[in-house]
Amino acid sequence: MERWKTIIEPFRIHSVEPIRLTTREERERALKAAGWNLFNLHADDVIIDLLTDSGTGAMSRDQWAAVQHGDESYAGSPSWFTFLESVRELWPYKHVIPTHQGRAAERILFSVLGGPGKVVPNNTHFDTTRANVEATGAEALDLPIPEALHPATVHPFKGNMDVTALERLLDERAEEVPVVFVTITNNSGGGQPVSLRNLRAVRTVCDRHAIPLFLDACRFAENAWFIKLREEGQGGRAIPDIVRDMASLADGMTMSAKKDGLANIGGWLAMNDDQLAEQCRNLLILTEGFPTYGGLAGRDLEAIAQGLREVVDEDYLRYRIRSTEYLGDAIDAAGVPLVKPIGGHAVYLDARALLPHIPPLEYPGHALSVALYREGGIRGTEIGTVMFGRHPDGTETPAAMDLVRLAIPRRTYTQSHVDYVIEVVRFVAERAAQLRGFRIVEEPPRLRHFTAKFEPL
Ligand code: F0G
Repeated sequence: MERWKTIIEPFRIHSVEPIRLTTREERERALKAAGWNLFNLHADDVIIDLLTDSGTGAMSRDQWAAVQHGDESYAGSPSWFTFLESVRELWPYKHVIPTHQGRAAERILFSVLGGPGKVVPNNTHFDTTRANVEATGAEALDLPIPEALHPATVHPFKGNMDVTALERLLDERAEEVPVVFVTITNNSGGGQPVSLRNLRAVRTVCDRHAIPLFLDACRFAENAWFIKLREEGQGGRAIPDIVRDMASLADGMTMSAKKDGLANIGGWLAMNDDQLAEQCRNLLILTEGFPTYGGLAGRDLEAIAQGLREVVDEDYLRYRIRSTEYLGDAIDAAGVPLVKPIGGHAVYLDARALLPHIPPLEYPGHALSVALYREGGIRGTEIGTVMFGRHPDGTETPAAMDLVRLAIPRRTYTQSHVDYVIEVVRFVAERAAQLRGFRIVEEPPRLRHFTAKFEPL
């Protein structure tokens, strides 16, 4: 296949979902009714939904068949053992604790490890991860490499953690750090991969201070594919072997199966430490369920088990990463500023650079995402000052970047959908000078981007 330039989806379509084609006037009305918050729209009013790649992918024929094997026994279901075996094939940790999605794993782990006076470093916390750390009274500290903060700077592993900054933190405050986290791929930093070499260096620093290292492994297969493509000596290796290498460098993981589990719901928490696992299981029983289902139906466990076998397939990963790159390259060629290199699951437009006339506290990322919806019915999401600008002490400052993420659901849209997105992004970018900022008229104390109401300025 390497001979041909055209990216073909390595699957045929087996069942179709209609897309309702709305008019610009309909979308104007929908925006007003939603308080200009795209999370508040009726999804039937969206043409191409790039809000998230989480739980929005298409399951395969074999996953739907696996669903029929779902066994709903409360305890010890065969589906649990199928799930466990499939997880352990890639992530051979001693304890695997199923949860209904990634943030449930985060909530449980940080309830045990967090608390006031603690600090959790991460290359970059995803919003729910940060919120779950902060909800315990702990501090969530981002330590990405300096290149990660410059959207236009190209680096093969722009998701890497700043090892020197981690060393400095641990030299000064090791007793306050219960765990070090690395997010693969680094979602909030642009869907950028982390190298095995960086993980090894982080591991060495953690070992020096006897602090456990955990992975937020939502997009582990995409990360492994980038390692295969870009890291010296990795090109000839099988993806599952690269994944097991990542696993061996950490003491545990949190996972959302809604991403590289290729499932619509699910997640897990895994670790080697017996005592920590026992504490986590006790919390699991309190809110999620018995340890052999953890808030999931047996059929969900089956879908994830099959999804994990499919996600490490090289034809799938080649198509996945190249089709994201195709979208990014076309937008780049049109001169629209974006995060480079193109990440694994999404393209991140640099709204701060595209809209220099809108100051960060008037939310350029929000303005751009609203415009993409109004003009083309495309729903992306702001990752910037709306998402990260409000702090636990009530103050508001500009986020490090103001990006708009166009996340690509797995195996869901075709190349002509992507071509349409390119056309709309170009149209909006050509008229960028006409866009205006927003102000927030209503917001909750935490994770405000989900429910805040806005007004155009
Ligand atoms: N960690 C990362 C890196 C994530 O991207 C997400 C979810 C989570 C944890 C939480 O997992 O949704 O299953 O509870 N990210 C989605 C997104 C929501 O759109 O990027 P969850």
